[in-house]
Amino acid sequence: MDNRRVLVTGAGGFIGHHLVKFLKAKGHWVRGVDIKSPEYEASEADEFQLLDLRDARACRIAASGVQDVYHLAADMGGIGYITASHAGIVLNNTKINIHMMDASRDQGVERFLFSSSACIYPQYLQLQPDVTPLKEDDAFPADPEAGYGLEKLYMEKICQYVTEDYGFETRVVRFHNVYGPLGTYDGGREKAPAAICRKVALSQDGGEIEIWGDGQQTRSFMHVDDCVEGISRIMESGYDKPLNLGTDELISVDGLVDLVSEIAGKRLTKRHDLSRPQGVRGRNSDNSRLREILGWEPSILLAEGLVPTFHWIAGELEAHQPLPIRAVAAE
Ligand code: NAD
Ligand code: GDD
Repeated sequence: MDNRRVLVTGAGGFIGHHLVKFLKAKGHWVRGVDIKSPEYEASEADEFQLLDLRDARACRIAASGVQDVYHLAADMGGIGYITASHAGIVLNNTKINIHMMDASRDQGVERFLFSSSACIYPQYLQLQPDVTPLKEDDAFPADPEAGYGLEKLYMEKICQYVTEDYGFETRVVRFHNVYGPLGTYDGGREKAPAAICRKVALSQDGGEIEIWGDGQQTRSFMHVDDCVEGISRIMESGYDKPLNLGTDELISVDGLVDLVSEIAGKRLTKRHDLSRPQGVRGRNSDNSRLREILGWEPSILLAEGLVPTFHWIAGELEAHQPLPIRAVAAE
């Protein structure tokens, strides 16, 4: 792979920040752009610009002089956030995506990678915890997650059309739930792995933990190191149709809680709250096409990847607020 001049949008966010580090380590020149700086450590980008990519002019500045665009900027979060904010998400992400696409073409960018989501898949295929893994061709007839998923699916089609009509090189990557250190763990946008790590870290051994839903809903979770490796491989692959990027290690939410509790060395009682957002009943990634195209797939087991994730979140919490005081035996 030759050294390239690249732009990572969303470089102040979770995956974008890790991707900047990965691409820098590969020897590329990297510009990071975001509306905010990374929260937990400084960016390693050669150049970091604070820009609001809803604005077309900002997108042209961001895309000037680069060969590759890794477009990750988005108004996004876990199921609590994307369920509560349909209008804001589609309005923001539509502007960001259309303007970034136009600017990339105008500025002579050679390759454009769009970070899509498993939320584009039809809800009617995700009604059971023992879900059949989702294949790329399952996307239509469409019935995506409201708001966020619908907008992602629309942008996927835009990528397809600009490739067909203008010969502009695109990649479309459907991420399945990504976790790891340096990811949002509080504030409302956090996804289940980080939220559960936070709740377990803040619980007393022998105490109770609140879980959204009945705990039987299932997902597959991908470590961010696999995610950035996969993004890079897909960019290099030349494959311009949508590809899943996730693991096919299906686990229930209760199973996830048990793994985290074990890492923390705590015995906790689960209190299931059925009034909280649950999203689809089951979701898993079919990696047949990914394996066929890349000869590779994510391989970090959840039980392994959660260890550094839990310890990073527990460390952050300890640094910013007191953890529960351990009971001390009376003298
Ligand atoms: P993130 O929220 O940590 O990062 C997204 C970044 O985009 C944020 O830093 C945010 O400030 C930035 N952004 C939002 N609006 C902007 C604007 N107007 N101008 C400039 N920057 C703006 O999320 P992430 O987990 O790193 O996700 C990265 C991409 O991957 C997103 O497109 C997301 O939809 C997609 N994705 C993520 C997951 C996951 O599990 N993390 C799953 C599916 C898809
Ligand atoms: N967020 C969160 N917080 N979820 C919880 C919690 C909690 O404390 N407790 C249990 N859950 C359950 C949710 O009810 C849901 O059923 C499951 O854990 C997964 O929740 P999330 O990780 O928030 O979201 P998701 O998997 O439904 O969707 C996410 O992944 C998509 C890609 O696969 C979102 O981040 C989407 O934005 C993303 O595109």
